[in-house]
Amino acid sequence: MTVSTTASSLARKDVANHFHPYTNLRAIEQDAPLIIVEGDGIEVIDDAGKRYIEGMAGLWCASLGFSEKRLAEAARRQMEVLPYYHSFSGKAHNVVAELSEKLISLAPTPALRDGRVIFANSGSEANDTAFKLVRYYHNAIGKPQKKKVIARVKGYHGVTVATASLSGIPMMHQHFDLPIDGVLRVGCPHPYQFAQDGEAPEQFATRLAEELEALILKEGPDTIGGFIAEPIQGAGGVIVPPPTYFEKIQPILKKYDILFIADEVITGFGRTGNLFGSQTFKLEPDLLTTAKMITSAYVPLSALYVSGKIYQACADASASLGVFGHGYTYSGHPLGCAVALETLKIYEERQIVEHVRAMTPVFQQGLQAFAGHPLIGDVRGVGLIGAVELAEDRTARKPFDPKRGVGAYLVRRAQEHGLILRVMGGDIIAFSPPLIITEAQITEMMTRFARALDDTASWLKGV
Ligand SMILES: Cc1ncc(COP(=O)(O)O)c(C=O)c1O
Repeated sequence: MTVSTTASSLARKDVANHFHPYTNLRAIEQDAPLIIVEGDGIEVIDDAGKRYIEGMAGLWCASLGFSEKRLAEAARRQMEVLPYYHSFSGKAHNVVAELSEKLISLAPTPALRDGRVIFANSGSEANDTAFKLVRYYHNAIGKPQKKKVIARVKGYHGVTVATASLSGIPMMHQHFDLPIDGVLRVGCPHPYQFAQDGEAPEQFATRLAEELEALILKEGPDTIGGFIAEPIQGAGGVIVPPPTYFEKIQPILKKYDILFIADEVITGFGRTGNLFGSQTFKLEPDLLTTAKMITSAYVPLSALYVSGKIYQACADASASLGVFGHGYTYSGHPLGCAVALETLKIYEERQIVEHVRAMTPVFQQGLQAFAGHPLIGDVRGVGLIGAVELAEDRTARKPFDPKRGVGAYLVRRAQEHGLILRVMGGDIIAFSPPLIITEAQITEMMTRFARALDDTASWLKGV
């Protein structure tokens, strides 16, 4: 094994022992990872003491930054009082009861407020549970044929066998022998990449809705049980759907009795300027998954909202089977629940959603200021999530050859300048900072990004 001579001893230890997720495993053996040892507000600090603005809040998740003492205190208290208990077979604990009540009171629609929440530990597990409930529900109501789930190109829903299958990103399928049967795919609502020349965004939305209906009719509506969508596709490249997209999709789902799963793992709890993306995009899902910012990512926890209609059918079926045969050892873990309750309390006390709305123009205008740059083809975002998409020829919407690694170079330069960002497939640079970011910090983030962009332009010119 070879590692860079400048890598720290911690980095060397890491590459000798650690099988990294979502990483080029050979490249990291050479380069060694950036080792982060501390957090401070919206910044993280590496093992050499260098500070970085975390422009992605980690993985779209550390909403309250990296040093919120109240969450540490809530975790400590819970560890001392009741470090573990479960909710299987007639048991529960006070914190899971309290959090369930709180989440239901915050649910974005009457159908979900009339429902229940079921807990897991990650976005993948929550979506996996939703996938299983599509099956369980349709068996329970006597429609055992209605099982296929429609998902979208560039969707990201997790890494379990079912949720990686739902995800529409090729590297998640290659060598894993995925997707599994029963997952169908429709197009991605990304006007910049997929709208035809001269096609207005609304016409593009109509075309996608027609494509969805045509697929349902081709497969047979009685065979389609669910449709899964993120309000904004995050890992696919921060894709904001064109106006009227969801307005046109939802009536088709209703017409054919297809359950709508809203994957709010990224958008849940404030990212788009409302507590839920479902409010921003006027969605009426039957199932809604949340994770990440539910605990500001301090402890793993996810929650799946299940509408009253689905819950009641599952309850009847479990009564006849004797038990509802699903649940994790750590479903509704007291530590996750206690930290979630404290996180939600802080969101209310500090008016985090209002803060996101106040910061939105600063952030979005900051990104839009790069719109005329010769390397940038598209700039987009909602609330405190956004992206710039690089282009070799912006008028022709022509991307760089992926082999050139232009986006990867840009994020490396940003890191040199003290800003952590992430490059998505197709040289898209994503921004999703902690929700507590201030106006001055947004300005500083954009300044550092501008420096990295200048470096990239010089590099491309061979200067
Ligand atoms: C929209 C969406 N769904 C699901 C997931 C999977 O969540 P996890 O990584 O917690 O399993 C992610 C992760 O980024 C996500 O962005």
